[in-house]
Amino acid sequence: MFFKPYGFLGNRMMDRSFAVGITAAKIQRIPDCRLFKKLFLNVHFNLISIIKSCYFSSMHLILQTPRLYLRRFTLADAASIYQLNSKPEVLQYLHELLVKDEAHAGEVLTNIILPQYENNLGRWAAHLKDTDEFIGWCGLKYRPEIDETDIGYRFMPQHWGKGYATEAAKYTLEYGLKTLGLTTITGRAHVENTASLKVLEKIGMQYIKDEVVDNCPVKTFIINARRWRK
Ligand SMILES: CC(C)(COP(=O)(O)OP(=O)(O)OC[C@H]1O[C@@H](n2cnc3c(N)ncnc32)[C@H](O)[C@@H]1OP(=O)(O)O)[C@@H](O)C(=O)NCCC(=O)NCCS
Repeated sequence: MFFKPYGFLGNRMMDRSFAVGITAAKIQRIPDCRLFKKLFLNVHFNLISIIKSCYFSSMHLILQTPRLYLRRFTLADAASIYQLNSKPEVLQYLHELLVKDEAHAGEVLTNIILPQYENNLGRWAAHLKDTDEFIGWCGLKYRPEIDETDIGYRFMPQHWGKGYATEAAKYTLEYGLKTLGLTTITGRAHVENTASLKVLEKIGMQYIKDEVVDNCPVKTFIINARRWRK
């Protein structure tokens, strides 16, 4: 069917069309109106496909994983960025200031997050497929000062420890190396950021060195397209 790539939205849309669904089920049981039944079901399912297509064409979808979908942020995401970047535990190991309100989050979007999309890279909003809940971000960022593309991720504390970072990062690496054709991706985490270091290891990145970046002691990992294919 033409909406197949967006099949993961099925449950949600089926919920929305629950009332219509009940009517469809009732009509199924009427024996003498087969043609009407067929017509009704056709209209019903076509309507669902159209709604699904509209929903996804209104967002810039980047990739999906078994449990998540990743899309580009827009200026309408200030509340989500505020939720995430105003939590001290989220920024504990990062060289960044806490976001103080939604206006400040809007500046982060305008000045930091959205300009990265010019290179087809960037940090992408991660949502749960089941509920559409925003749970954090994952993505690739080009750093011109060192000519490197690095992987980054950040999730809401209530969703830590569920494997989401590993899942999102794994598919992000694949997207970067396969779809975008990057030859190398770098990853860095503070030496005490055990969870992040574990994610880098679990997605197959190779530790290369300890260094100091932005006054922070970090461990640096790397993966290249050849190693990733193995
Ligand atoms: C780092 C971060 C993204 C990890 O997210 P997550 O969704 O909890 O990660 P996962 O569930 O995929 O877990 C990855 C591994 O780390 C382990 N882990 C998670 N939290 C941990 C902790 N506090 N201490 C030790 N290990 C931890 C998990 O058990 C898992 O390993 P396992 O599969 O062997 O059990 C999350 O903690 C976060 O958003 N931190 C704040 C932002 C940040 O530091 N980003 C990284 C910047 S480099």
